[in-house]
Amino acid sequence: MARTGIDTSILHKGAHSASYFDLSRSMNDGAEIVDFCIPCNPYFPTPEMFDELSRDLKNILKYYPSDAASITNKLASVLGLHPQTVAMANGSTELITWIDHLLIKESVAIPIPTFGRWTDQPLETGKRVDMFPLQERDGFRLNLEDYVRFIRDRGSRVAVVCNVNNPDGCYLARRDVIRFMDALGDLDLVVIDESFIDFSDAEQYPSVGPDAVIRPNTVVLKSLGKNFGLHGIRFGYLMANPAIAGKIAKVLPKWNLNSLAEKVVYMIEDHQDEYEDSLRLLSRDRRTMGGELARIPGLTVFPSQGNFILVKLPTEWSGVALRDYLVANHGVYTRECGNKLGMTSQFMRLVVRPTRDVDRLIDGMLDYGRQFRTRPLYEEDPLEPARRWASTVEDEPDNLIQYPAHRTTEYAGRRAANG
Ligand SMILES: Cc1ncc(COP(=O)(O)O)c(C=O)c1O
Repeated sequence: MARTGIDTSILHKGAHSASYFDLSRSMNDGAEIVDFCIPCNPYFPTPEMFDELSRDLKNILKYYPSDAASITNKLASVLGLHPQTVAMANGSTELITWIDHLLIKESVAIPIPTFGRWTDQPLETGKRVDMFPLQERDGFRLNLEDYVRFIRDRGSRVAVVCNVNNPDGCYLARRDVIRFMDALGDLDLVVIDESFIDFSDAEQYPSVGPDAVIRPNTVVLKSLGKNFGLHGIRFGYLMANPAIAGKIAKVLPKWNLNSLAEKVVYMIEDHQDEYEDSLRLLSRDRRTMGGELARIPGLTVFPSQGNFILVKLPTEWSGVALRDYLVANHGVYTRECGNKLGMTSQFMRLVVRPTRDVDRLIDGMLDYGRQFRTRPLYEEDPLEPARRWASTVEDEPDNLIQYPAHRTTEYAGRRAANG
């Protein structure tokens, strides 16, 4: 593989990963990047949907969108939600910002590691952030009872849980999250960030959205950019009782959502089956990719329910050096977690991708590992680590199908559960 020409110094600036656009501007002509850094859905939108977007691009860019309330009402109707319980904005990040400004008054508890804005945003506005450290020895699994005790000890007024959590991919069962919400009914606010929950196949109806809208102090967050594989559009929504959802919706500018967001909201109605298919394909890829990664000697693979997998590198490897090596020599862009609170550079978060891309990633990792000769390049029985990894994840879901799939009515079920 030809070198990409990327100047890896751009990866060493700032607290966040370099954007795809930063990277592509610094690449040699003709070089291409396989992105294991930004957690997108690789199977959605379908090529036909992209064609439709391209055909409409001129009008989408030329004209004002409808106002945010109309687009939000359409989203609510497509998802089977009560419109007064929904507020829609430019990505869940914008909603996190407004939750901080309007609903977090003095303190917020958050397990770490997690999505950086959940710690940085309230710190930037002078709030106290009570960080509850997740433990590597527990596989970063959040024990909700311990977390409630921590919240009581610290006197935190707001509590946040990310389910599925980023970067470890841990999933909490719906009944446990509901118990957690009930235990904290007296707080100013409980936020369940479900930005990655659609990628989970652990249970049929994982979301606590329907439970949030009938509680006085609970918000559930969703990121449409992640679900629909369209981060560039910047759209997401929250679900809460009408008083909370209305308070957020009221502060957002009238034409806050853009015409691309509007176009996609109207399109998804006709493409729900393809969306459900994309989630099943992603589940399948997650299992395959986890098994493949587990074959690399010395690498620890954490079971995940997200569209990414957390790994811990062999002790002699460096996450920063590996990331730079992969992007410069293999055109593979990865995320080392050294700049995440509660993590170190020994951890990498790798986005779930189709097998051909995973082969390229693993080739690159093995290439990098060749300089450390202390271990055999492959385990003796190459399938044994994959079997060990598979035994750590729950039973095979019954929804793994070939693509293209025959259509099912499952999406209607998911919508009904939300409604
Ligand atoms: C847990 C979590 N919530 C929210 C977000 C923000 O998502 P969006 O792109 O919708 O702003 C992220 C982004 O990585 C995330 O990891």
